[in-house]
Amino acid sequence: MTREEALNSIKANIENENLIKHMLATEAIMRALAKRLGEDEEEWGLTGLLHDIDMELTQGNMHSHSKLGADLAKELGASETMVHAILCHNEAHGIPRETKLDKALFCVDPLTGLITAAALVRPDKKLAGLEASSVIKKFKQKGFAAGVNRQQITQCSEIGIEFDQFIELGLVAMKGIAADLGL
Ligand SMILES: [Fe+2]
Repeated sequence: MTREEALNSIKANIENENLIKHMLATEAIMRALAKRLGEDEEEWGLTGLLHDIDMELTQGNMHSHSKLGADLAKELGASETMVHAILCHNEAHGIPRETKLDKALFCVDPLTGLITAAALVRPDKKLAGLEASSVIKKFKQKGFAAGVNRQQITQCSEIGIEFDQFIELGLVAMKGIAADLGL
């Protein structure tokens, strides 16, 4: 599967621009994380890019979300490792996260929302001037972007990356595609 094929499939299945941006941000962080950890950047990036491809098709039904997505990814030619990571990123299925890729996708998923929210409360609403220390401050304010699962983000420790470094890496990765994210 090429990145273009994955993106075309996303655009065929998703209308919500913010959801597409979330998937692009997840891809960017997954690529950066793979590079840092010496993993397969393309495999990790495409897993991040595709992980919520079924979100509109499943219409908020958490019992089908990610099952359909895993099937769609498989049809596109995703590896078993990628398919498993997509499947188990939704905890509703109770499927244990086994591989590094499973664990990486799980902790990256909510990080995009935290960083986006931290950018949007800035006067310029841009990522450029946002610092990791500020994102960490927002992380500690429980009322800020309350829907962001903090505990899920801290599970970065399970793939051997410290929390502060994880935030920094995610922020840098998202800054790298700021124009695509409209931030
Ligand atoms: Fe997601």
